[in-house]
Amino acid sequence: MFTANGYYSQLQGNYLFSEIAKRVAVFAAAHPEADIIRMGIGDVTRPLVPAVISAMHRAVDEMGCAETFHGYGPDFGYDFLRSAIVNRDYRSRGIDISMDEVFVSDGAKCDVGNIQELFSADCRVAVMDPVYPVYVDTNVMSGRGGRFANGAYEKIVYMPASADNGFVPELPKDRVDVMYLCFPNNPTGMTLSRAQLKTLVDYAIKNRVLILYDSAYEAYIQEPDAPHSIYEVEGAKECAIEFRSMSKTAGFTGTRCAYTVVPKTLRYADSFGNEVSLNAMWGRRVATKFNGVSYITQRGAEAAYLDEGYREILGVVADYMENARIIRESLSRVGYTVYGGVNAPYIWLKTPGGDSWAFFDELLATHHIVGTPGAGFGRAGEGYFRMTAFATRENTLRAMQRVCGG
Ligand code: MLT
Repeated sequence: MFTANGYYSQLQGNYLFSEIAKRVAVFAAAHPEADIIRMGIGDVTRPLVPAVISAMHRAVDEMGCAETFHGYGPDFGYDFLRSAIVNRDYRSRGIDISMDEVFVSDGAKCDVGNIQELFSADCRVAVMDPVYPVYVDTNVMSGRGGRFANGAYEKIVYMPASADNGFVPELPKDRVDVMYLCFPNNPTGMTLSRAQLKTLVDYAIKNRVLILYDSAYEAYIQEPDAPHSIYEVEGAKECAIEFRSMSKTAGFTGTRCAYTVVPKTLRYADSFGNEVSLNAMWGRRVATKFNGVSYITQRGAEAAYLDEGYREILGVVADYMENARIIRESLSRVGYTVYGGVNAPYIWLKTPGGDSWAFFDELLATHHIVGTPGAGFGRAGEGYFRMTAFATRENTLRAMQRVCGG
């Protein structure tokens, strides 16, 4: 007799961005005249850059010709893309990552969810608070959350990162096995210094904790000292998996391409006491369950890592970061307390009345602007609100005019 996974009923409501989309749809239906500006989900608005488009056009032509047609690609991504990634994102920064440690995928969100297949059933998970909800929800789905009480799951260890501690996650007080970190951070838009990141890496090495490092917003770092990769920190290859995404870097939210780095130095005991390689396990999982990203997409992604495309995507990033500056400075000018928006496309502001869903409703009703309530990112997110810099320049300026006036 079939029994359904009971852990799904421990999830709290809808996935955050589905809930927001639902509320906005209800509002839009009731107010068809409202000119809604969307600064909620971090979805890009600028088109793919010319170098990416040309590469994809060429790839389409190849697919239409018997001599150059491609069927199934290699399990872990084409070598041309894996080598472009290694050169651009690692070797250029003096980091020793090899091609066979890079696994190309269709999204960092899928990878951060799927990576749990490498955990033993009783792994104890730590997350930052506030937190990108995917880390928590996927662990709840597989039974690692436990009961939800007082705004938190009892089996998950939360590491508060708030204005009070400079958004540096507090080290766990209890034993944990896995630690999710995200820098530049979603939702707060804050980064760590290399020394702060080293403290976390040292803790992980000492306690045999596996770090899952989500670096999806790395391209938005503007300050020279902020680390782009966890592997800039000595010892990280002994304790960390890194996730990167083309979504925000190259405008691939609708095109889909990402990658995960699983160093060959990650070796742990499994639940039977055998020493195993996480690189080999992830490879086995990918080969068994995934048929790869399309050739056309991988050619487009490669172009974003080569000189011309890279210059173009940095231009787009700079445009979004100008939006971030406009939002930060406009809100500060009228008295909001704001964080982030310097090395990330997210601005994290203190909600005047405290209640972040009430602020969401008010902003939508009064100014027809959509943002993301901090409470959707966990208990420590209450009292805050996230705005993205991904709108068009025109909409960013119009939104700030509505909220802040002249
Ligand atoms: C966000 O708004 O937090 C992101 O767009 C979500 C995602 O990347 O999945």
